[in-house]
Amino acid sequence: MTIPSDIAQTIIDPRAYADGKQVDDAFAWLRREAPLEQAQPEGFDPFWVVTRHADILEVERQNELFHNGDRSTVLTTIEADRKVREMMGGSPHLVRSLVQMDNPDHMAYRRLTQGSFVPQNLRALEGRIREIARGFVDRMATHGDRCDFARDVAFLYPLHVIMEVIGVPESDEPRMLKLTQELFGSADPELSRSGGAAQTTDQGVDTIQSVVMDFMLYFNAITEDRRINPRNDLASVIANGTVNGQPLGHLEAMSYYIIAATAGHDTTSSTTAGALWALAENPEQFAKVKANPALIPGLIEESIRWVTPVKHFMRTATADADLAGRKIAKGDWMMLSYPSGNRDEAVFADPFKFDVERTPNKHVAFGYGAHVCLGQHLARMEMRILWEELFARLESVELDGAPRNMAASFVCGPKSVPIRFKMH
Ligand code: HEM
Repeated sequence: MTIPSDIAQTIIDPRAYADGKQVDDAFAWLRREAPLEQAQPEGFDPFWVVTRHADILEVERQNELFHNGDRSTVLTTIEADRKVREMMGGSPHLVRSLVQMDNPDHMAYRRLTQGSFVPQNLRALEGRIREIARGFVDRMATHGDRCDFARDVAFLYPLHVIMEVIGVPESDEPRMLKLTQELFGSADPELSRSGGAAQTTDQGVDTIQSVVMDFMLYFNAITEDRRINPRNDLASVIANGTVNGQPLGHLEAMSYYIIAATAGHDTTSSTTAGALWALAENPEQFAKVKANPALIPGLIEESIRWVTPVKHFMRTATADADLAGRKIAKGDWMMLSYPSGNRDEAVFADPFKFDVERTPNKHVAFGYGAHVCLGQHLARMEMRILWEELFARLESVELDGAPRNMAASFVCGPKSVPIRFKMH
């Protein structure tokens, strides 16, 4: 059996992710009827769709059996894959960050920056991040009683934090935001560099490649500067770091910047925007957190589960394998569906309810195993500080129009959350 074509079409359709309910229904059907099955939508190589929480963990745990880098790490058409390989001398990747690496390189490259992202070292940033958060809460107050929380706060705050961590000056933040949105929003007419004009596969890959080149041009200059003037920032770690006694390769260094500069804010922004949307729609949940700020960590975990901004990553089997009673062949491509794992009825009671008191809340939104999100503690910390500052002043919030999600099947979340609020 393969997955029925209408379901297969839905789970790869950027517009279905923007709708939300369409993908939720498709994954609920899959978890019930075909939890681990192959899909073959037109134009794609076949791939397994891993929908259950337990199976996602199992694939991620076995990182030698299921590789990241052997094929594209995001779902790609046969045509786009051909074009990328043609451009990249046979490699299926436009960049080579931690995400595209396997051991031994993955471990060696991850070790380089891991220390910067562990909780005990992040503590030093707490005061500065709180200052930034307060600035955004003050700015929100100057809007009066209405704003678009996604555009005015959620997109900008995590951007500002990660750019300070990397060492990008504030004046360049709009450029970084635009490039990130062009990269992740290439299927969204409002965000893509093509402005929504129809593009052939070749043009689509060229467009993404041009965004990657712009990032590289920018970070090349930063690298040169930090080699001469090292500072206490991540850019200096990347520019002057060594892996196995050698400086980082050019593609690897550029890719390190790009993953930090993109994954480091879009995901957190989406989660923050989605959290406020959920709170506005569920005033009893808002009231609970307002009355008891000790629930903020619960709000954070539930909003990460709720939004699940990373919609999938792909893995490739390095050998024949048995997974949940199914035979996976060497070379098979597998889609880990994080939104599905995070609505798995076997793990989460009432999974379609937004519940800040959900315990336990073992979501898979940060992935698991060797590749588990490098920035998870930073993401949690910056959200905690923002909610602490915001809940101290926010008295009520309601939607002021219909929120809208970005259209993408890889990384996405709300792009507009109009709200009306009272603050003191
Ligand atoms: C990897 C989600 C924030 C940097 C990942 C993965 C997911 C994810 C699902 C793949 C994990 C896997 O393959 O098992 C998220 C979510 C975030 C977030 C939901 C916010 C709510 C951040 C931040 C940074 C970051 C703030 C800051 C630098 C990275 C990096 C990787 C990664 C570098 C690659 C790790 C590797 O392959 O070893 N993230 N992320 N992320 N994330 Fe995050």
